[in-house]
Amino acid sequence: MTMNLKVLYSEAEIQNKIKELASKMNALYNGEEVTVICVLKGAVMFATDLVKFLDMPVQMEFIRLSSYGSSLTTSGKVNAVDIKLPDLNNKNVLIVEDIVDTGLTAKFLIDFMNMNFHVKSLKFCSLLDKKITRKVDIEPDFYGFEVDDKFVVGYGLDYDGYYRNLPYIGYKEN
Ligand code: IMP
Repeated sequence: MTMNLKVLYSEAEIQNKIKELASKMNALYNGEEVTVICVLKGAVMFATDLVKFLDMPVQMEFIRLSSYGSSLTTSGKVNAVDIKLPDLNNKNVLIVEDIVDTGLTAKFLIDFMNMNFHVKSLKFCSLLDKKITRKVDIEPDFYGFEVDDKFVVGYGLDYDGYYRNLPYIGYKEN
């Protein structure tokens, strides 16, 4: 299971971007408590690095969704593998994702939150934003980098379960 990868965003670029995003969040929440929801598995690295730079009281929750099998395109159907959450009524909720592609996962999550809770605020943050492949009208409140229509791996993002451990984001060289 090896692909020749070209680096798209280096470890240093990712870490700098995370600090930038965290300082925007620190300004926005102004010390108010936030519940960060990490969408597994892809957002695990991003969410755990991001929270280190948040300076308000933070609780972390983890949910697991899947929409890709071992293919490079989404199945178009979002599966909630594990979406157990505590009571989030009146909480500031920040959903943290790895990438917004079609936007179906983001829409599913935002609808799920609004159907189940009366949150105080709901924000969506994605490390990557593939705006060009969007199928639903959704924009993350925060994103790190915009990416072209390339399948990217690393820093939590996988191809068929591999490459999540890379500290950088890369794509397959043709
Ligand atoms: P969406 O529902 O189409 O927006 O896709 C969201 C999910 O698809 C992400 O959370 C990723 O797990 C996966 N995904 C989309 N594009 C890529 C990619 O380029 N590399 C790896 N996973 C991706």
